[in-house]
Amino acid sequence: MTPDARFRQTPGAEPERLFSAPGFSAPYAPPDEEIAARLLAQAERPAAAEGRIDRLATGLIEAIRRRTGGLGGIEDFLHAYSLSTKEGLALMVLAEALLRVPDAATADRLIEDKLATGDWSSSELKSNALLVSASAWTLGITARIIHPGETPDTILEGLIRRLGLPVVRTATREAMRLLGSHFVLGQTIQEALRRARTQRERYSFDMLGEGARTAADAGRYLCAYASAIDAIGASAGDRALPDRPGISVKLSALHPRFEPVSRERVLKELVPNVIELARKARHHDLNFTVDAEEADRLELSLEVFAAALADPSLRGWDGFGLAVQAYQKRAGAVIDWLAESARAQARRLMVRLVKGAYWDSEIKRAQERGLADYPVFTRKAMTDLCYMAGASRLLAARPRLYPQFATHNALTVASVIEDAGGVADYEFQRLHGMGEVLYEMLLAELPQAACRIYAPVGGHRDLLAYLVRRLLENGANSSFVSAAADPSVPIASIIKRPQSAIGDPRQARHKRIPLPRDLYAPMRRNSAGVEFGERATLMGLLAEIDQTAGATAAAPLIGGVALAGRARAVRSPIDGATIGEVTEGDEAIAAAAMAAAEAGFAHWAGEPIERRAAALERAGDLLEARRGRLIGLMAREGGKTLDDAIAELREAVDFCRYYAAQARLELAPQPMPGPTGESNVLRYRGRGVFVCISPWNFPLSIFLGQVSAALVAGNSVVAKPAEQTPLIAAEAVRILHEAGVPASALHLVPGDGKVGAALAADPRVAGIAFTGSTEVARLINRDLARTPSLSSPASGGGLGKGIVPLIAETGGINPMIVDATALPEQVTDDVVASAFRSAGQRCSALRLLCVQDDVAERILEMVAGAARELKLGDPRDPSTHVGPVIDAQAKDRLEPAGASPPALPLGSLRRAAGGRHLCAAHDHRAQAGERSHRGGFRSDPACGALARRCARCAAR
Ligand code: FDA
Repeated sequence: MTPDARFRQTPGAEPERLFSAPGFSAPYAPPDEEIAARLLAQAERPAAAEGRIDRLATGLIEAIRRRTGGLGGIEDFLHAYSLSTKEGLALMVLAEALLRVPDAATADRLIEDKLATGDWSSSELKSNALLVSASAWTLGITARIIHPGETPDTILEGLIRRLGLPVVRTATREAMRLLGSHFVLGQTIQEALRRARTQRERYSFDMLGEGARTAADAGRYLCAYASAIDAIGASAGDRALPDRPGISVKLSALHPRFEPVSRERVLKELVPNVIELARKARHHDLNFTVDAEEADRLELSLEVFAAALADPSLRGWDGFGLAVQAYQKRAGAVIDWLAESARAQARRLMVRLVKGAYWDSEIKRAQERGLADYPVFTRKAMTDLCYMAGASRLLAARPRLYPQFATHNALTVASVIEDAGGVADYEFQRLHGMGEVLYEMLLAELPQAACRIYAPVGGHRDLLAYLVRRLLENGANSSFVSAAADPSVPIASIIKRPQSAIGDPRQARHKRIPLPRDLYAPMRRNSAGVEFGERATLMGLLAEIDQTAGATAAAPLIGGVALAGRARAVRSPIDGATIGEVTEGDEAIAAAAMAAAEAGFAHWAGEPIERRAAALERAGDLLEARRGRLIGLMAREGGKTLDDAIAELREAVDFCRYYAAQARLELAPQPMPGPTGESNVLRYRGRGVFVCISPWNFPLSIFLGQVSAALVAGNSVVAKPAEQTPLIAAEAVRILHEAGVPASALHLVPGDGKVGAALAADPRVAGIAFTGSTEVARLINRDLARTPSLSSPASGGGLGKGIVPLIAETGGINPMIVDATALPEQVTDDVVASAFRSAGQRCSALRLLCVQDDVAERILEMVAGAARELKLGDPRDPSTHVGPVIDAQAKDRLEPAGASPPALPLGSLRRAAGGRHLCAAHDHRAQAGERSHRGGFRSDPACGALARRCARCAAR
């Protein structure tokens, strides 16, 4: 086994299988144009068919508009306060935050803050619907109390003195509750079943809650689903499927780490629970649908679905189902896969076709991760086109698949009916609280049609994520409900077919949504990321890391010549194994490097900016091309997990491109105004020799950030990496040289603090970039102040260097302040990422968490529970979340020899005397006992560090 074979051979993994769900294979984000060409070719219908669609869709929209107040109910309200208005945005913020604000003071402040800027009473809201009026009234009266531009003080002088904020608060909260209850059928399944009994439609109940962060939350959701299935089954009546109620489950609610890198664990732990729930549903012969979530979870969802489907206890049952999102480019492949799975199992599956509810976050995520393309379409018409293509596939796959068309769009409904040739053998679906009028009209016209209502059940505590998706959906001006509610939008434009909106495959993309790589264009290209949710990509990367691993060495590199000397072994923080060797420099070598850099300065400084910038850009490209080797080295030498290593590599690439772009922008000669006949030009030049001293916690990105900034500005550089990570630094220097930075301009001196001190104290130094402890930064600063200022020919002949600048980046206590309006899940994600990524060793790592008393208990419990779900281990295993600390010394700082582990009980709270801040800690002993790693430097940095930090700040 090669040193990095571990990257592929993760415990329990099957390296030879590239695609996760058996038989499912589809590129994650193929070009829109290709898909458009295919879909457009299939989209034509005979003129008579189009005429029938026009008539039905127009009739439905007109009927909707004829209803007093438009669509009625909440849709009017949401349209009136659409997201393109400041009132709409304020409403979003309020709805999202207010329901969970437990204390009156914070609620008052939030209301003041968000409503003061809105024009609530002038909104054109004509509906008579009680609900709408009530909500508008409560918000309107609030806005009359808090006018734009008024401060709480002036308000106090006016109306509020008579009414008081408690009244305002109550009214506004009531409006939010109305919003919530509009979208939720009942707080309990019994209440929901009671309400459902009065309707003629079928129901699919959904237990609110998603994205469990802790095992306890996942267990709570599992129980809720299980007892709901029993309750639904008990009142299901005796009609046969599909005319029976059902339940929809979110896999992310059932597992705290429902993510691609935790695949083995998810399959082991989640599949049995899904099978258990499905068995219950089968027992009552219900429709059991797995909801569709984010695109990166699709393959894993299919794998879980396939494993449950194959369970012998579910054989012969036709109620099992899956939701498919048409905005995903893989929608067609998923439907084909479902049809094939049903055929192989000789059974029928229920397939809900939705358009998709996470569009905004999919776009942002793809940009942020630097993906090659988007997994979803960027034009709504493409989503609609793909929906209709999916509908045709589903209809053609009957009777193996039972199609369930979930939409509130009258054109989509009319098109499906036309393509199906009627309403037999499939159903429509709508969300509770939406599309009421549309389906009321449709069922009146076509009583044989079937409609199912997706009905969320649960308390307000779990409502928020769902509510926000509904508000986004209703408030977006691209959505059908928004357009249908707006009488100024001509019906002809609402029923314009997606194929004519696209027209040509080259128009398939939104013009104003750049590809992720062009996010920063024209300044620079975004660094390329990796999608772990595409198993083929992940496995490809792991193979690349494996194939490019090999022995490596570092030595002082002066003028491109590696100096010989006494080498020492470089050991991995993972297990203490030797991974290469380093020859370190000393004071004499430091002086030689400074002399060589001084000699090389003039030539490099004289190079045009464009040439220097181009060299950096080539280095960025080389870093991307060698990602496997660099990621492997960062894991072995720096203990970086796969995720952390990719993030660091991308940052290094971005530094190269960013500084290249900045140099072109900022350092180019600028003509200055002056008297006629005189030419004045402002030019920037390098200062001379820059010494760059970098830390081990970002051995590639900080190292390259310092060096590339200094180089592109025309300085020559002597770089001294951290003692722990010389190999990565040597690799980076080789890449910069290969990219065109002359060997005379960039020199490397590995070594300890003495070497750094010698470089910093050298009289030839023209500037220092340092990242590390505040203590060392202060020492360097003092030394610099004492160093005589040399008149250096390298820095401009007799001009002298003046005061040598020190650019120091040091660590500190990074606090996070959390008030009651924050979403606990989001706080938990951020706390866990900030405190534990890079094993808590980032200078920006969270060190002090301050939580408002009223919500502290729940938040700390969630943070502790989520931290407990992190996997500590070998960073070469992609499922590891926390790798080792950097060395034995760091480990000893966490666990001094002989000291017993910090004895903070699980989730214990420490409260500063008299203060309000609280810190989370979790059970160090339990986790260290279970997962500590023998032989290497492994500690339990997550638990230990946090516990100790908490103890320390509590003492303060
Ligand atoms: P409409 O015709 O207005 O279409 C809205 C769609 O267009 C959205 O998907 C939106 O993202 C998309 N869109 C908007 N701008 C776009 C652009 N520039 N480029 C590309 N696409 C764009 N959702 C989900 O993700 N998983 C699930 O499991 C379910 N389950 C579910 C069950 C039931 C019964 C219903 C009714 C709905 C869901 N949903 C869902 C939510 C569903 O995705 C959402 O309601 C639909 O997208 C609304 O589609 P319409 O046809 O009603 O609206």
